[in-house]
Amino acid sequence: MTDKLIIFDTTLRDGEQSPGASMTKDEKLRIARQLERLRVDVIEAGFAASSNGDFEAVQAIANAIKDSTICSLSRANDRDISRAAEALHGANSSRIHTFIATSPLHMEKKLRMTPEQVLEQAKLAVRFARNKVADVEFSPEDGYRSEIDFLCRVLEAVIKEGATTLNIPDTVGYAVPELYGNFIKTLREKIPNSDKAIWSVHCHNDLGMAVANSLAGVKIGGARQVECTINGLGERAGNCSLEEIVMAVKTRRDYFGLEVGIDTSQIVPASRMVSQTTGFVVQPNKAVVGANAFAHASGIHQDGVLKARDTYEIMRAEDVGWSANKIVLGKLSGRNAFKQRLQDLGVVLDSETEINAAFTRFKELADRKSEIFDEDILALVSDESVTSEKEKYGFVSLSQHSETGERPHASIVFTVDGNEVHGEADGNGPVDASLKAIETHAKSGAEMVLYSVNAISGSTESQGEVTVRLQNSGRVVNGVGADPDIVVASAKAYLSALNKLHSKADRVAAQG
Ligand code: KIV
Ligand code: ZN
Repeated sequence: MTDKLIIFDTTLRDGEQSPGASMTKDEKLRIARQLERLRVDVIEAGFAASSNGDFEAVQAIANAIKDSTICSLSRANDRDISRAAEALHGANSSRIHTFIATSPLHMEKKLRMTPEQVLEQAKLAVRFARNKVADVEFSPEDGYRSEIDFLCRVLEAVIKEGATTLNIPDTVGYAVPELYGNFIKTLREKIPNSDKAIWSVHCHNDLGMAVANSLAGVKIGGARQVECTINGLGERAGNCSLEEIVMAVKTRRDYFGLEVGIDTSQIVPASRMVSQTTGFVVQPNKAVVGANAFAHASGIHQDGVLKARDTYEIMRAEDVGWSANKIVLGKLSGRNAFKQRLQDLGVVLDSETEINAAFTRFKELADRKSEIFDEDILALVSDESVTSEKEKYGFVSLSQHSETGERPHASIVFTVDGNEVHGEADGNGPVDASLKAIETHAKSGAEMVLYSVNAISGSTESQGEVTVRLQNSGRVVNGVGADPDIVVASAKAYLSALNKLHSKADRVAAQG
C-alpha cells in the first residue's frame, strides 16, 4: 500500500454541477491552470459527452495542462466513453471515469435495470474504456447505499476488466465516518483482487460530514485517493473540501502518516479564483480559506499568538497562501509588469488585443484606486461584461441619481450585439433602477434569485464585487461584476448573467 494520498479535484465537474456555478471554457481553463500550480494529481475537467461546451473545455484542458492527469467523467456506455477519449486525446496523462448506479433504489427507479444488467454494463464499459486509455476509474453511483454483496461482485468484475481506481461515492451524503470507513475496509477485505486497484472516496456534504467521512475512508478503509473540490463547491451542500482534506492530512501527519503532493501555498489563490469565478462567496469562518480562519479577536488569544504563535495556531497562514494578499501593482506599473502578473495568476488571454484591452481597464482602475491587489486583477479579467467582444451584452456607462426622500433614477448605455442602446428607469434604490434600465431593452423575463456584494480587498477603498444569480426556464446562471462603484458593478454583473443565459449550453447532468 502506497503512503501517498492522491488528490483528485472535481471542482470543474462535480463542483460545476452546483446550480449557478457553471463556468465558461476560458474560466475552466484558468482554474485548471491554478489546479496544476496547486499540484493536484488528477483534475476531473468535466463530462465530455454532456454538451459540446463541456467537450471543448475538457479538450482545451487536456491540451494545456501537462503536470496533472486529466480526467473526464462518462456514463457507462460506448458513446460517452468514446467522447471522453476523444476530448482527452491531447493529454500527457489521461483517465476515463465511468460510472453506473448500483443501489437498489437507483437501479430500480432511475435506471429501470436489473442488478444483472447493471453488472454486465459496468463490465462492458470498463472493458471499452480500457481499450481507449490505460487509466480507468469506475464509480458505483450511490455506492454507499448499495447492497454490499452485489457491490463486491460488481467491483471484483470491473477490476478483472482492468479498472485501475475504484471510487465509492456517498452520492447523497448519508454516511457517517465510522460506518463509511468500515464499509470501504469490508469491501477491500471481501474482494479477492482488491489489491489490484487504488481505492478512492467521494463524499457529499449533506450532513456536513464529507471531510470527516473521507478521512475515515482513508484511515479506517485504506483508501488512497480522495475526490474533493476547492471551497467544497458542489451540488446541494457541496463536496468534500480540498483545502480541509489536504491541511488535515498535512497538519496531522503524526496520525495519518501520509504524503500529499499539494503546494499548499496555492490554496488561498485557488479558493479566491473559484469563488470569484463562480460568485460563490466563501463564508468568513470557513476552515483554512475563510477570511477569519487566522484572525484572532480576543485579547487573550492575540497576546498568546504574539508571544508564541503555536499557542493558538496549528497552521501558518502563509503556508496556505494568505501572504499572497499583497499590493502587486499600481498606477505606475507598465504593460510588461501587468502581463507578467497575469501569467503568474494563471490568466491566459488569447491575443495581444485582449491583453491591451485588459491593460487599459487596469490603468483606468489604477487611476481610481491606488493599490491594486491580485483579487482586483482577477476581477478585472473575469468581468465578462467588458472582456469579450463575442458576448451579446456589454457595459458602456452608467449614471444614476439618488437623494434622500426621492425615487432613484438610472440612465445606462450598453451594447446589444455590438450596437449601443440607452435605457432609463426609476427604482427602489440605485441598483434596482439600473437593472430595470437594462431590462427596458433586454426584456429577459429572468427572475433574480440572488444578489450579493462583497468588498474584494476588505476596505471601502476596495472594488465592490457583485454576484447576481438569475433563473429563467429552469436554467440558473451567475454573473459577476467588479468596480469601485457598486452600482456599476451590479450592472456589469447583471449583463454578465444575461450573457450566460443567452449562451444556452445544453447539458446532460451527471449524477450527484
Ligand atoms: O456523487 C456521485 O455519485 C458522483 C459520481 C458520478 C462519481 O459524482
Ligand atoms: Zn458526486
